[in-house]
Amino acid sequence: LDNGLARTPPMGWMSWTAFYCEMDCEKHPHSCINEQLYMDMADRMSADGYLAVGYKGVHVDDCWMDRQRDGQGRLLSDPQRFPSGMKSLAKYMHDKGLTFGIYEDYGTKTCAGFPGSYGFLQMDAQTFADWDVDYLKLDGCNINLDLMPVGYPEMGRALNATGRPIVYSCSWPAYLINQPQKVDYNVIGESCNLWRNFDDINSSWKSIMSIISYYDHMQDKHIPTHGPGKWHDPDMLVIGNAGITPDMARAQMTIWCIWSAPLIMSNDLRNIAPVFKEILQNRAVIAVDQDPLGKMGRLVANTTDVGVYIKAMTPVDPQSGDFSYSIGILNRNAVNRNSVEFVLGRLGLNSPGGYRIDDLWSGQLVGVFKPTDNFQTIVNPTGANMFKATPVALADLKGLR
Ligand code: DGJ
Repeated sequence: LDNGLARTPPMGWMSWTAFYCEMDCEKHPHSCINEQLYMDMADRMSADGYLAVGYKGVHVDDCWMDRQRDGQGRLLSDPQRFPSGMKSLAKYMHDKGLTFGIYEDYGTKTCAGFPGSYGFLQMDAQTFADWDVDYLKLDGCNINLDLMPVGYPEMGRALNATGRPIVYSCSWPAYLINQPQKVDYNVIGESCNLWRNFDDINSSWKSIMSIISYYDHMQDKHIPTHGPGKWHDPDMLVIGNAGITPDMARAQMTIWCIWSAPLIMSNDLRNIAPVFKEILQNRAVIAVDQDPLGKMGRLVANTTDVGVYIKAMTPVDPQSGDFSYSIGILNRNAVNRNSVEFVLGRLGLNSPGGYRIDDLWSGQLVGVFKPTDNFQTIVNPTGANMFKATPVALADLKGLR
């Protein structure tokens, strides 16, 4: 969507995959959906370095609302769990330099059964603008699927008409997985800044694998319709949650960044091991995700176990037009390490002067490689290695022969 927003993939934190729809705050005072949860996460994001590396948005998901609209038809937040109200929660975020995202659903009800926007699109857009919301996730439960091409653009226009800049995330194509002929990403990209294409993620390797394999399969459709202002969204980062090892965490982060995907964590930032915090805050890896060209990387070599992904990025040599590249090598095997070897030129890295290659996870310089050179690396089970290749003409060659 060409509204000047989300020129790089959105980054932030969202509640769903870590806290779902827990509403019993007596039994679960620290993990129920209430204003304190979002304030806690905002505190951690600003105090623990997440904001400094780019994670800016705090996103409410389903289950924030009261069961009924007010007398004028306006949405209300749950009075017990959000006693200060959403405008004040937005202010809490803004005062910390964060942005505030909210959740609604295009249908008659949200997936969890709260009031949906159907029949109230203009009013709800205005309510969100009045509350100083910066980002809307519009889900797609409880609606006739044939109405999606009508309703999603309509909400986009309603948001635009408020005059407040609001990033617009659509779940539209995720509800049409079984009707791919109805998904036109060029059309969706005219109305939405980002969109979910596939099933909800959960904190398991199986779920991460199923998303990657869907994206691999769809890459010829996805790649040309992805870029600044319009992003495919493979769903939240589950790094830091039980069930996800450091290797799996690096694998998810590697592939999401090679895709230029939104980086929206869903985890408990109050209680996260340093190894996961480091993975989430790796600046060189995040710079791949946030590269201004915004290209979605491509799977260029594939075996049962191993996928090699390449993404063209900056800096670009103004003389020759040669790109820099990030390279991701994924090992899907859950038991065995895999040794992977390839000739750079075969993968499209053809700058005649060669490339300086850096290992982005270890932070180590690997060396200078010509297009005809063989590159070799060993990848842990359920892991990924990630490199950046910079044309020699643009690279800092200090420390090299
Ligand atoms: C389905 C969405 O895909 C999830 O991310 C989450 O928002 C739930 N609905 C909430 O009900």
